[in-house]
Amino acid sequence: MSQQHLAAPADETAVATVAQHRDWWRGAVIYQVYPRSFADSNGDGMGDLAGVRARLPYLRDLGVDAVWLSPFYASPQADAGYDVADYRAVDPMFGNLLDADALIRDAHGLGLRIIVDLVPNHSSDQHEWFKRALAEGPGSPLRERYHFRPGKGKKGELPPNDWESIFGGPAWTRVTEPDGTPGEWYLHLFAPEQPDFNWEHPAVGDEFRSILRFWLDMGVDGFRIDVAHGLVKAEGLPDLGDHDQLKLLGNDVMPFFDQDGVHEVYRQWRTVLDEYAGDRIFVAEAWTPTVERTAHYVRPDELHQAFNFQYLSTDWDADELRVVIDRTLDAMRPVGAPATWVLSNHDVTRHATRFANPPGLGTQIRTEGDRELGLRRARAATLLMLALPGSAYLYQGEELGLPDVVDLPDEVRQDPAYFRGAGQDGFRDGCRVPIPWTRTGSSYGFGTGGSWLPQPANWGELSVEAQTGDPASTLELYRAALAARREHPSLGAGESLEWLTAPEGVLAFRRGEFVCVANTTTAPVTVPSHGRVLLASGEVTVDGTEATLPADTTAWWTTA
Ligand code: NOJ
Repeated sequence: MSQQHLAAPADETAVATVAQHRDWWRGAVIYQVYPRSFADSNGDGMGDLAGVRARLPYLRDLGVDAVWLSPFYASPQADAGYDVADYRAVDPMFGNLLDADALIRDAHGLGLRIIVDLVPNHSSDQHEWFKRALAEGPGSPLRERYHFRPGKGKKGELPPNDWESIFGGPAWTRVTEPDGTPGEWYLHLFAPEQPDFNWEHPAVGDEFRSILRFWLDMGVDGFRIDVAHGLVKAEGLPDLGDHDQLKLLGNDVMPFFDQDGVHEVYRQWRTVLDEYAGDRIFVAEAWTPTVERTAHYVRPDELHQAFNFQYLSTDWDADELRVVIDRTLDAMRPVGAPATWVLSNHDVTRHATRFANPPGLGTQIRTEGDRELGLRRARAATLLMLALPGSAYLYQGEELGLPDVVDLPDEVRQDPAYFRGAGQDGFRDGCRVPIPWTRTGSSYGFGTGGSWLPQPANWGELSVEAQTGDPASTLELYRAALAARREHPSLGAGESLEWLTAPEGVLAFRRGEFVCVANTTTAPVTVPSHGRVLLASGEVTVDGTEATLPADTTAWWTTA
């Protein structure tokens, strides 16, 4: 299917270099690169793989262990690459397979691992299978690989069931048959350009196991699985009935999400992955009602990690954070999987903007709020996250303290959810604005041309260049925190923590020789000092056996 070919297999020696630490992923810090917004090597305003490759030393120096790349496959970009037309080809907008190969080799040479995004719930409507399914008409065996159904109503004019797309509107689109008449409907839980695969069909499973092998042979260290909770649908595709889908999403098991049958897929995938040397991993993007259900995805014979969206969705509130931390650790312990922690990604408002706004607004926020407050809290939240046992995910630009860009004009927006409206998402462009590398330049060092989304005028002050060497900067805080995690691997290791008594609104816990204290209140607090302050997100003053933390500040101590 792919038109691109590789000259040589991935470099086994380089794979061996990074493969030395078994179980590296249990405490790993994994950095998400959103390729179109990271670095543009050819000045076309769109980030690309060569751009990422050129910036790998920055990521190595930042101190992360691995890089997760959002999709760069051949795609019409109806959903920024989460609509894949060819799973074995790189979209020309991002480069080609040789660029991917060079990127993987260089990363390994620098001791960084590469995780790629796999999109198995749906393809693009421009995927060969779907195009043929449409062209061949009703009864085509290719239609069985997707969910085609006749419509309801006298003339089939109504969708087959009442499911709604996550991006808003019905989850079904009616096709025009080859003879020009209105015909069957097909299911798309996301945009109409993203038809859902039918995972009951054996060809779908065969194809994805083959795709896994293709990228494993290329040398990747793992996969982030898109919509991992969505592959299997309840038998008969039953109506939701009176239930409000928006309220159910994330709070209950739905007929199209988190069905038990999905776990068989992952047990099969695990056997494929385990054939390969090098301690490679799967991480699930599984939005489930509870962290306990998320734990099902990381049972010993399934996936390795799952994103902790319950944590991401928690406000900056000590009591709520403590509950979600405890529940996560309690849920992961019995299955032997590491907890994961995440504050930002390409689908939610950046945490510097979430925390700049009042609590309770969720993860899609349209207002700038109090930027100074948001940044102070974001820095504190990051240090808290990086002191927790398990693996942490960072989203490009958060190390610069970037806010969401909330005032993008409608005409530049590209998020399909924005145009379909009424869905749970819709304002994701704001966290996808290309990142600033330099103080000046047409796109602040993102590239030599422009940038596919306009960058705000103050972007240069937030750039890597502007922050490097400034000990008060957010970038240097991240560098110091990640250096400390490297120097003291026990910071991210293990599966438990010991809570210490703390004033209202303050979280304090011990992990071996480390103590972390997070003041989530708007006033300074005085707490016991626990040895030497290793790092703090604000100005901590120590007076004998006591220390004072300003409002919204986290500090790490070491007693060693
Ligand atoms: C989750 C991805 O993170 C998001 O960006 C995408 O729109 C949906 N899955 C559909 O693939």
